[in-house]
Amino acid sequence: MNPADFARLLSRALEARGPLLEKLRAEGTDCYRLFHGIAEGLTGLTVDRYGPLLLAQTFRDPLSTSDAAALEAALNAAIPGDFHFAYNHRGKRPGESFDKWHRPEPNALGEFTCSEGGVKYLIRARHRGIDPWLFLDLRPGRRLLRAAAQGRSVLNLFAYTCGAGVCAAAGGAAEVWNVDFAGSSLEVGGRNAALNGIPPEKFRTIKEDCLTVVRQLAGLDVRGRFGKKRSYLRIEPRRFGLVFLDPPAWAKGPLAAVDIVRDYPALFKPALLALEPGGRIIATNHAAGVSWEDWEAALRRCADKAGRPLKSLERTEPDGDFPSFDGRPPLKIAVCGI
Ligand SMILES: C[S@@+](CC[C@H](N)C(=O)[O-])C[C@H]1O[C@@H](n2cnc3c(N)ncnc32)[C@H](O)[C@@H]1O
Repeated sequence: MNPADFARLLSRALEARGPLLEKLRAEGTDCYRLFHGIAEGLTGLTVDRYGPLLLAQTFRDPLSTSDAAALEAALNAAIPGDFHFAYNHRGKRPGESFDKWHRPEPNALGEFTCSEGGVKYLIRARHRGIDPWLFLDLRPGRRLLRAAAQGRSVLNLFAYTCGAGVCAAAGGAAEVWNVDFAGSSLEVGGRNAALNGIPPEKFRTIKEDCLTVVRQLAGLDVRGRFGKKRSYLRIEPRRFGLVFLDPPAWAKGPLAAVDIVRDYPALFKPALLALEPGGRIIATNHAAGVSWEDWEAALRRCADKAGRPLKSLERTEPDGDFPSFDGRPPLKIAVCGI
């Protein structure tokens, strides 16, 4: 990487974001993407701001020590303020430790707080996982959820650190259930809720497989694969006013694999059946290989078959800090009403 080239590309990226950053500042948001890889001229490099933390990440080739230093210098020159800088390489080879690429040393950077729409979130650049606790591209999804949450019961599936759940509670949700099988992520979620003064009785974290939970809520069976006996948390059927469904692209699970390319309906059908009449699902699909047309058709077909035809489906895409190089951003957000 030529440092002069990076300084020029960064300045262009900041200029393009000018109006958006003004808007975000006005709504109380200090976390956003500053530089977005291939769409802004450098494949495999992103830079994000999370409050006082600037986090650079590479996804293909790691930066040399001198390139990382040049990047930090270019950021310091372009962005006024007193920031902490971290650089993580995520494209590790099998068997390689992430620690090898973390600069400075892992765990040297502690926890920070950033804000989105005035809601506070904990951020850590270095921890056991590789994602920094808040997915910035999902901001429009959280915005929609918050706007729809007043007085509603909310089911947040694949909750991770409960970013969406905390945002729903901030929007006045009557109650929020956050489901994820990763206890360490839910623990951060509980702390995110406390940071925002959300009463624990309104905010439940459930460490369990999402399919097992949502199928029980929908009144569907949860027998294990091949009839295997397994223990799981028993939950009575019930319905929610809003479901936030933001699954990973693929993950193994005790009932079935989550596979948003080949089988989105396996998630969407029970989520629909766990919805109150007049309720809404905010669903996402991050797979670059799935087009809006195909995904929307699959959602509508699934809803028809489940006897809950969609009355509305509104499409949303990421904000302008995630520019797309081909006009087809991988993240698609659908607000579906029944
Ligand atoms: C991409 S993150 C979801 C991000 C989250 N929705 C947010 O708002 O930040 C994927 C999460 O799904 C969880 N996960 C994957 N498969 C799961 C399953 N079958 N049941 C429960 N959680 C699962 C992972 O532990 C991880 O926290």
